[in-house]
Amino acid sequence: MSVWAVLVAAGRGERLGEDRPKAFARLGELPLLAEPLRRLDESAQVDGIVVVAPPGWEEPSILLAEQIGASKVSACVPGGESRAASVRAGLAEVPDDAAIVLVHDAARPVLPADVVERLLAALGEGFDGAVPALPLADTVKRTADGVVVETLPREQLVAVQTPQAFVASVLRTAFAGDVGAATDCASLVEAAGGRVKVVAGDERLQKVTTPADLERVSGWLHG
Ligand code: C5P
Repeated sequence: MSVWAVLVAAGRGERLGEDRPKAFARLGELPLLAEPLRRLDESAQVDGIVVVAPPGWEEPSILLAEQIGASKVSACVPGGESRAASVRAGLAEVPDDAAIVLVHDAARPVLPADVVERLLAALGEGFDGAVPALPLADTVKRTADGVVVETLPREQLVAVQTPQAFVASVLRTAFAGDVGAATDCASLVEAAGGRVKVVAGDERLQKVTTPADLERVSGWLHG
């Protein structure tokens, strides 16, 4: 059963305040993109990788893959205006016979191998998709114009990370329609009626958004 990864790296990363896309911000000696790419390439479960690069950065992305010896990369395509558009562009390059697709944010460079194992185990149980998640430490409220509308029951809430894993045909169907403003893939699969299992996430899958995040992740890797 073949497992393909779509690594979305096409975000601008404006909050990082660099003169280049987030995927090419330095993380140690190499651009940030190198870390999640290497980890996916080294994963025994992953058969092939599609990289979705910032538009205009396809060539540096391919060169980086070559530099780190990421031999499973089969395609590198430019991303779109939104994350969902970028996922759709990557999905189009995944071979028709792929059974499972993992979609991962390059902005979460530290990908522990056991998370992938938990996700694939959930699909083995018959779920359409699986997402890693962490419990929330804070109480979450829904607001409108700065006024609280509702306090949500925290024990039912989780913060969802990537990679997210799906039966390939289910993900393709979910992305065939209007993807709107979806901020993750699972929401589209859920909307199409898919059953998505929640598995334990990992603190290290934190998304790099600010310079402080980059420093924290760098500390885990090089500290
Ligand atoms: O913007 P956000 O933090 O949700 O981005 C999550 C991931 O999606 C990042 O890895 C980013 O590079 C990617 N992305 C993309 N194309 C976009 C926007 C975000 O590939 N247009």
